[in-house]
Order: sequence, then structure tokens, then C-alpha cells
Amino acid sequence: MRKYILLILPLFLGAEEDFISHYEYGQMLYNNPRGVSCAQCHGKSGEGKVIVTYTDNHGKEALKGPDIRHKSFEQMRKSLNSTHPVMPRYYLTDEEIKTIYDYIQKRNNDTSQ
Ligand code: HEC
Repeated sequence: MRKYILLILPLFLGAEEDFISHYEYGQMLYNNPRGVSCAQCHGKSGEGKVIVTYTDNHGKEALKGPDIRHKSFEQMRKSLNSTHPVMPRYYLTDEEIKTIYDYIQKRNNDTSQ
């Protein structure tokens, strides 16, 4: 009997390691998608962030990553599937985008949309 437990135990441990929640998967994708981390430009929770400041003819300017906490899934999908002046083009599946979307919603506890 003991022998069986020793045989089965590593299977359980392995399964435990492989298991990550939808939230954790979203967190992973947001912070480390196939490309540059979303957090670098949109902040830890999607609240937006100053990427860089510079001075030109108009004085001090800031390049910002917008607040994306209140974007709908469709807006996010559209945005991630197009090219932008600053934001890189990502090639994420709808499921990955949805996972990132859910992560941002949950992280901000936003149930308004
Ligand atoms: C290099 C900085 C940068 C990174 C990295 C980045 N973004 Fe962006 N994002 C921007 C900027 C700046 C804009 C505004 C459009 C532009 O100028 O490119 C934007 C626009 C958006 C928009 C549309 C916002 C609107 O107002 O409609 C969404 C949604 C978005 N980003 C989500 C993401 C997600 C999700 C990731 C990660 C997979 C990501 N971004 C990675 C800089 C970035």
C-alpha cells in the first residue's frame, strides 16, 4: 500500500504545479505576453502610466499609456489586433485577450461593464 502512495504522490505534485487559475494565467499574460509587458505602459492594473517625458517646442511633454481599466472586451480585442503609433502589435488569440481582459476586470473589481 505504501508503495502505491509513493508512486502516486509525484503525480499529484506534478498536477499541482501545472494548475494555475484563470486569474493567474491572465496576470502572467498581462505581465509577460508574447512581446513587451502591458504593465510597462499601462501600469500594474491597467490604470495607465507615463512611459517617458521629454521636452520639445511646447515645453515638457509626456508620452502616456492610457487607462484601459474601463475598455470593453471588444475594444481591447480591436485594439490588440491593430497597429498603433506607440503600442506594439501583439498576436494574441481571442482566448488570451479575454484572459487578460478578465484579469484587468478582476484586479480592479470592476463590475460596471
Ligand atoms: C510600449 C508601450 C505599450 C505596451 C507594451 C502596450 N501598450 Fe497598449 N497602448 C499604448 C499606447 C501609447 C496606446 C494609445 C495608442 C498609441 O498611441 O499607440 C495604447 C492603447 C491600448 C488600448 C486602447 C486604449 C483606448 O484608448 O482605446 C488597449 C485596450 C491597450 N493598449 C491594451 C494593451 C494590452 C492588453 C497590452 C499588452 C498585451 C498593451 N496594451 C501593451 C502603449 C502600450
